[in-house]
Amino acid sequence: MRKKQILLLKVGVVIWLCMVYALFIHKPATSSNIQISQTINQQLDKLEEELNGQSQFYNGLLEKLRILRRHQETHMSSDSLAEGLTSQDNSKGSTVQAGPILPVLLIACNREAAVRRSLDLLLKYRPSQDRFPIIVSQDCGHRPTREAIESYGDKVVLIQQPDLSDIEVPLKERKFKGYFLIARHYKWALNQVFQKYNHEAVIIVEDDLDVAPDFFEYFSATYPVLQSDPTLWCVSAWNDNGKANLVDVKNGSTILYRTDFFPGLGWMMTKELWDELGPKWPRSYWDDWVRAPEQRADRACIRPEVSRTRTFGKKGVSNGLFYEKYLKQIHLNDVSVQFSKMNLSYLLKEQYDPVFERQVQSSQVVTLNDVRSDRLAKGNTYRIIYHTKDNYKKITKALGLMDDFKAGVPRTGYKGVITFFYGGLRIFLSPGNNWKGYNPSWS
Ligand SMILES: *[C@@H]1O[C@H](CO)[C@@H](O)[C@H](O)[C@H]1NC(C)=O
Ligand SMILES: *[C@@H]1O[C@H](CO)[C@@H](O)[C@H](O)[C@H]1NC(C)=O
Repeated sequence: MRKKQILLLKVGVVIWLCMVYALFIHKPATSSNIQISQTINQQLDKLEEELNGQSQFYNGLLEKLRILRRHQETHMSSDSLAEGLTSQDNSKGSTVQAGPILPVLLIACNREAAVRRSLDLLLKYRPSQDRFPIIVSQDCGHRPTREAIESYGDKVVLIQQPDLSDIEVPLKERKFKGYFLIARHYKWALNQVFQKYNHEAVIIVEDDLDVAPDFFEYFSATYPVLQSDPTLWCVSAWNDNGKANLVDVKNGSTILYRTDFFPGLGWMMTKELWDELGPKWPRSYWDDWVRAPEQRADRACIRPEVSRTRTFGKKGVSNGLFYEKYLKQIHLNDVSVQFSKMNLSYLLKEQYDPVFERQVQSSQVVTLNDVRSDRLAKGNTYRIIYHTKDNYKKITKALGLMDDFKAGVPRTGYKGVITFFYGGLRIFLSPGNNWKGYNPSWS
């Protein structure tokens, strides 16, 4: 792409030189210098217009060719729902190379080394540039960061948030200005992805995430599930309780869940969702806004047992203590699971809910002390029941689980239940059977 533009530019410069030469040679001294410069200006404008037109033409052509190729590939592997969910039956061509285009949007600002680290890993594991174009959106106008991104050449697309003006922040929220800038950036970048580039879905990451080897495979395989279940609104690569001692590291890499809690941190959404959220996008704190009942509207996300992203730290807006205590200890999945060869229809609500409820109900009810005492048989599932917010906090703190709520929903919760793995035991931390739904006043 860039080569073509440079070529066009070179051609333009040559034409321009020829014109200037011709003007000076063939226009005798009778024309005044003013007339000459006017003519040159007119010609230059015309040339610029033509070059722009040609560049647009080639861009359009390239896009058409890409779409053609995509159609050809999806024809071979068929992405229709039934087969998409169970593509193991489709022995030919059902690799992660084929399928709908899922761009990765990397949100960047002024951290040059972090952007490099994120991009290096994404590029290392990306199975196909055509299926997973990486769009790096840079805010902040930081030159070294921009140059770092540009150094990846054609492997990534750089877009730059144009509005670098100061942002109006209420006086008492001054120290949270970063959150306002981030919300503005997200809105602009997502509009680019969906309105300018016309993609049908996007995987969003920030410049502080390491990704797992099967990051792309995970999103590729769960995309048909997301598309076909209106009670789902995102797929996230993140497990909030994904510390090594709280997940089944040895045998849990294939396990996926539904969760009512929006995890973020490497997540996928569809254009339909952006059409819904984009117009009312908030000026700040976008992730908590997304978690509010008005936005979530009872919808769930898919999340893995073992995280497919891990954050390597964030300067500025995030809380350092929180990072040390939880985020830093997330275990990043290190084996490649071939999700696209698995039947993931168990994640659809009508299949998932009855199985999940049966599992919770049939688990032996135990106490916190039982779990910590090492006297329970491994291989079974157990249930700890909580009744109050304080009760919940006490248990989660004791086990090293995250203890907070957003809009009343506990992290990783589904129907009020937290699922985790502790000392070789599968445990459901669950409300009583008369549970009436989340209480938004729990925080
Ligand atoms: C591993 O997980 C699978 C299914 O998730 C289960 O059937 C199997 O028993 C597990 N093996 C061990 C050793 O826990
Ligand atoms: C996928 O799994 C579901 C049960 O979760 C089952 O009903 C369906 O038949 C399976 N599809 C294939 C092709 O195995």
